[in-house]
Parts: sequence; structure tokens; C-alpha cells
Amino acid sequence: MGKTQWWKQSVVYQIYPRSFYDSNGDGIGDIPGVIAKLDYLKQLGIDVIWLSPVYDSPNDDNGYDIRDYQSILSEFGTMEDFDRMLDEAHERGIRIVMDLVVNHTSDEHAWFVESRSSKNSPKRDYYIWKKEKDGGPPTNWESAFSGSAWKYDEKTGEYFLHMFSEKQPDLNWENPDLREDVYRMMRWWLDKGIDGFRMDVINLISKDQTMPERRPDPGKSLVSAFEFHANGPRIHEFLHEMHEQVLKHYDIMTVGEMPGVDVEQGRKYTDEARQELNMVFHFEHMSLGDGPDGKWEDRPWKLTELKEIMTKWQEGLDEHGWNSLYWNNHDQPRAVSRFGDDSVHREKSGKMLATLLHGMKGTPFIYQGEEIGMTNVQFSSINEYKDIETINWFNEKRFQGFSEKELMPSIYGRGRDNARTPVQWNSSEHAGFTTGSPWLTVNPNYEDINVEKALADRNSLFYYYQKLIQLRKEEETLVHGSYGLLLEEDEEVYAYTRTREGETILVVCNFTAEKQERSLPGTIAGKEIGLLISNEKEDLHDLKQFTLQPYEAFMYRLNT
Ligand code: NOJ
Repeated sequence: MGKTQWWKQSVVYQIYPRSFYDSNGDGIGDIPGVIAKLDYLKQLGIDVIWLSPVYDSPNDDNGYDIRDYQSILSEFGTMEDFDRMLDEAHERGIRIVMDLVVNHTSDEHAWFVESRSSKNSPKRDYYIWKKEKDGGPPTNWESAFSGSAWKYDEKTGEYFLHMFSEKQPDLNWENPDLREDVYRMMRWWLDKGIDGFRMDVINLISKDQTMPERRPDPGKSLVSAFEFHANGPRIHEFLHEMHEQVLKHYDIMTVGEMPGVDVEQGRKYTDEARQELNMVFHFEHMSLGDGPDGKWEDRPWKLTELKEIMTKWQEGLDEHGWNSLYWNNHDQPRAVSRFGDDSVHREKSGKMLATLLHGMKGTPFIYQGEEIGMTNVQFSSINEYKDIETINWFNEKRFQGFSEKELMPSIYGRGRDNARTPVQWNSSEHAGFTTGSPWLTVNPNYEDINVEKALADRNSLFYYYQKLIQLRKEEETLVHGSYGLLLEEDEEVYAYTRTREGETILVVCNFTAEKQERSLPGTIAGKEIGLLISNEKEDLHDLKQFTLQPYEAFMYRLNT
């Protein structure tokens, strides 16, 4: 089977099925709902769908806690529905990449039920069990969802590790039988015809077996478990083995979600010669504005910080490896709210952000609703929130004495439910997402922001995305050209070039709500230009001296 690296030319669209489209009125998005919207996605022009988990799950973490890897959650439909979705997507030339969640399972997975039943269980070693230390948990590691990463289990009197919720026990990748079972399951899906995997926190699977600890930071009693296990001792060995055993036998795309990955590691994971993965999701730009208490601080950040991060990855993976490009996903705030302006300049800044990202080298990922500029949400009470991370953090902080009023701004800024409110399809009740009662309240701005409205307006953000996606198919330089940063110290304007075999594309983006006067270096300003795309009506600039409108963005081809 010849492999074409089709994923380098592709634009991926992420579907979080629970919030995408509900076909049967139970308030929960489902697989027939995805099928119903395939023509919409075809119209947008995307090539690949990344489908967040649809596997059977008790939904402690909305499907990232899997009870059975080989069956479909009944709320989402049946395996027949899944097969039909895959066929219908393929008929339209759209590929489907599944979420692979194998750092942990649900505590209701048959392996864990067996594992916890006895110390002699044949599956005991599929998970990470340790004895107590000094009458408490084995180490001072903290779970990503607050509290200790260890849970005591009465039945056998030992603790099991859970880096996420206590209903998400971590798998023990040291065990070759477990690895073989995972590979078998992956082959089963690939043989069905799926087109690859997005691998959930895959750089956490190799645990440091020395059980390292350190003293917690002042004011804290625990240390994040990620710190010890991200990019752990055997990670490259495991991923290479997975490649040998599974991945290399299929013409597929892989992207590993990797908290705590730096550019040197990123290159190792994605360098073709090493035969591990095609891409990683790094978190460096997602951490902009983090404070000592992590993401919940949400402090101001500078454009030069963003430039430094993006440039480092663009340059670092230019020759070896490949970048993924994203502004948001189901775990992050909405792109326009975080990086643009979600009020007056919502569409304009959305176009600017899209231009910046789709102009870069790598594979762009669009998160559902981004293409119509959906925004963050501010529910008045914590009771409206459903996300386990948000709720656990809130409860912990309340316990420490903070008031609801003090905590809500952090949730408004960074909470995961910002991304999870249902997709706004039209201006009817519940935004046309469901005829029933939605599992999570719809953002009240749906009358103004919805798909129907976007499709009716030729100047909408939707059509701008459509055009950008089209451009990536027409302009080889957008796929393969090397990136070069311009105006490095500029705190308002982000400008760069993409260059390949004598052709250059220039991208300029105003990140502010003010006009900006700029000029570009003579080597660039002197060239003849042809407009590729712009979010302004006035489209011809003299690059020696020009004025950018608020949130203006453009892309030019420079003729040599
Ligand atoms: C990352 C996923 O994107 C997130 O939604 C989930 O909570 C954790 N991994 C645990 O699976």
C-alpha cells in the first residue's frame, strides 16, 4: 500500500459528538446527528474528522473513561450507525480519525473489574497497584482533576493510580500482555476502515518506575503526577513498538496529545525516520497566561510570547517532523474569546486567527463551532456546569475558603465547558441542536451566532474558512514552504513568510482593535504582490508603508 502522507495536505475538523447534533431529541448529540451534518462539513471543505470518544462509557469524563473499546455508547447510537457514518463520510471523501484513550480505562472496564477483584487476578498487573506508605497514599502525586492521584481500594487493601478522575485508573504499559491487547483493539478498528487515531495523553503512558517525589510548592500538599511521567523512560520504545505492531501496516494519520512536550521531544515523536507518530499536540500556546496555580489564573500575555512559541515549533519541525496547528479543542476556551475579540470584532478577529493558523506549516485542526465564531459562555451558577475538572477544582477551592464569586471568573476564562456548549445550528429553541432538553445549556448568544445565519452571509467567517481550506489545496507553498518570522519584536502585528522554490507567501495579522501603521523590510516590500485572501474590503497594500485596520489579516503571494 503506497502511503501518500495525505495528512500533510489535510484540514481536520474535530467533532465532540455529545455537543454536535442530536438526532433523536434526548438532548445528547449522536452519530446519526454527525451523519446528518456530513454535507455541511463537505461544504466547509474539510478532509478529515477527528471524532472524540464514542465508545461505551459511564461518562465520568464524557467518554474519556472507556468501559468497552469495541462497542458504541448507546446514547450515541449503535455499531451499525457507526459503520454507516464511516461509509457515508468516505463516500464524500472525508476520512475519520478516532480518539484512542489508552493511558487509562474506566473503572467499569472488564480489565479493571477483574484487576481489582484479587491480588492474584491475571489482570492485576494491567493497572498500577501499590501499597500504602506511612498510613497514606504511596506518593504525593496529584491528579489532573484535583486531589491525590491514588485511590485506596478496600477489597485488596492497596492503592491504584489515576492521573485523571478516580474512575479513570491508569493502565500499566510495562505489561506486554496489556500492550498486545491494546494493539489488537487498534487493529480491529483499523481493519474496519478508520483512518487513524488521535491519541489521548499518549506521552503519559510510560511511568517512571522509580516512584519519584519532590517537596510540593509553597501552599500546596501535592505535586502534579504529570511532572514525573510526561515523556517517561520507555515512551519512545512503546510508540515505536506500536508503530511496528500496528501503525505501519495501514495508510493512516496519527496525532498524539502530549502535555508537557517540548520542541526537541516533539521532533523525536514525529521524525519520520524514527517511526513513531505523524504529529503531536503540544500545549505551549495553550499555557499562555497560566500562573503559579496553572490554567485557572488566566493572566494577560504578550504577542511576542505567542510568536516565540509558534516560531520555535515552526522552525524546530521544519525539516524533521510535522506540526499540528490548533487554537482550541474540547478542553480549551473558544479561540475568538481567548486570542481575539468575542464582541465587536468577533468575526473579524476570528478571520484573523484563522489566517494566522492556516498560513502556517502543519496540519490545521478546526474545533466544531470555530468556523462560525462560537464564543465562551458565562453561566451564572456553578450548578449549570457539567465538566468534572471544573467542578472538582471549584469544590476544592470552596473547601479552601474561596467564594463562588471569586472563582467564577476563572471558569469563565478557562473552563472546559466553554467549548462544550452545543453547536449553534439556527435561531430556533436550543439553537436547533435538539428538540429536547440539551445536556448542557446552549450559549444564549445563539440567535446572533449560528450556522444558518453564517451560511446566508457570503462574508461570514464560515466562507472565510472555506476559502482558506481551499487555498491550502491550491498553494503547495502553504503546505511545504518554510516559515520565516518578520517583525519579531512587534507586540501588535504578527507577520511571517512561507517560502519554497522561489515562491513566497506573506501573512500579516493585526492582533489589536486599533489601526496599525507598518512597513516591511525592503527585500519583501519591493516585490510585486497578488492577493490570496484578506478579511478587509480594501485589499491592495503598498508593503513599504501601510495601515492595518483593527484585526485585519491578509495573505499575499510575492512574485519574484
Ligand atoms: C485529554 C482529553 O482531551 C480530556 O478531555 C480528558 O479529560 C483527558 N485527556 C483524560 O482522558
